[in-house]
Amino acid sequence: MAISARPVAPDIVVARSTDVLEGRRHLVAVDDVHLGLFRFRGKLYAYENACPHMGGPVCQDRMVDGVLERIEDDRTSRGMTFDEDDPHVVCPWHGFEFRITTGEHAGFSKIRLRSFPVTEDGGEIRVRL
Ligand code: FES
Repeated sequence: MAISARPVAPDIVVARSTDVLEGRRHLVAVDDVHLGLFRFRGKLYAYENACPHMGGPVCQDRMVDGVLERIEDDRTSRGMTFDEDDPHVVCPWHGFEFRITTGEHAGFSKIRLRSFPVTEDGGEIRVRL
């Protein structure tokens, strides 16, 4: 019985470390793949800049903190606050919000951005497409 191995795609240098500052994003195209790179608390995230809803350029619009609503035991709301631990990016076409740290839609976790492994070494950011 033959064992087949899928070749591993090489990591591609897509940016310099200084291109993606803390709390910011950087957009880059590699061949025909458009990426949004994000850095939050030192960690990097790479997503395809194509919204799973209808393909909008999801990585390039507003970045906002997620919203927390405190619900009491009697199901009444005690108001909403912003959550600095949960940054979101908002798709400019129809407003879907995605968690930058996971790529998940803020309300429906089964809907998510396409993510790519990202590494940083020697001042270079590499992505495996
Ligand atoms: S294309 Fe992104 S919300 Fe519709």
